[in-house]
Amino acid sequence: MKSPLLEATALEKSYGRISVLKNVDLTIDRGEAHIVIGPNGAGKTTLFKVLSGELFPGSGAIRLEGQDITNVPDWQRVRMGIGRTFQSARVFSDLTPFENMIVAVEARARTRGGLLQLLSIRPNAENRDAARVILRDFLLETVADRPTRTLSHGDKKRLELAMAVAGKPRILMLDEPTAGMAPADRHKCIELIGRLLAKGDFSLLLTEHDMEVVFGLATRITVLNYGEVIASGAPQDIRSNARVREVYLGHELATA
Ligand SMILES: Nc1ncnc2c1ncn2[C@@H]1O[C@H](COP(=O)(O)OP(=O)(O)OP(=O)(O)O)[C@@H](O)[C@H]1O
Ligand SMILES: [Mg+2]
Repeated sequence: MKSPLLEATALEKSYGRISVLKNVDLTIDRGEAHIVIGPNGAGKTTLFKVLSGELFPGSGAIRLEGQDITNVPDWQRVRMGIGRTFQSARVFSDLTPFENMIVAVEARARTRGGLLQLLSIRPNAENRDAARVILRDFLLETVADRPTRTLSHGDKKRLELAMAVAGKPRILMLDEPTAGMAPADRHKCIELIGRLLAKGDFSLLLTEHDMEVVFGLATRITVLNYGEVIASGAPQDIRSNARVREVYLGHELATA
């Protein structure tokens, strides 16, 4: 049997004496949209950081197509095809979206060529075109040449997403991609992610509080509570799971 795209087993993580992840197992299969949900402080962002290599687990293992990557740092995981965004957008705010996109596109080219170059003063025509196409796909055309710091929160989050997609990841990890967005922006963003997923270029792992997003996109849901996985399965099974409704979804679904 083929090994899963990503497989995490028995992950443990503590901050000092506070245990934040407890014996967490999680797999991401090819083509899957796996969404991690749970109350504030459940450990979702911590799990994310451990899977993307920003933090290392205290114990447990992470495998990418069977290869142990538990101790591989985040920048190397990006090269191996694990792309990510952060809960609060991280973009170069003094550059324009176009320039940000050039950084992302050139980083991909560097990865391919294996050569370390500095950001070109004059990006080549191919990279400029690639940057413009992605900006258009992500509805950022009209703001492409303003300083990024002047963009709305929703535009910045979409820019960050666009930069992650430009890296052509095999797994895209998004920590609350619609956090703080107005409903119209949120709809735009979900639609965009749905469209990207349908193309089948990557698998998705995301965390989200908005149940419309969760049930609109997920092929599988894992529920964390106080650092433990209390359920993992198909959306309809999670929706009807008594324990999940008790600790989290009862309230969220009542208001969804
Ligand atoms: N750097 C840190 N040092 C100490 N404790 C931390 C640190 N980061 C997170 N924690 C604690 O770890 C627990 C899990 O936090 P985490 O950010 O992973 O939760 P989360 O599920 O992402 O929450 P949210 O839904 O609010 O984003 C929380 O109790 C938090 O206070
Ligand atoms: Mg979080």
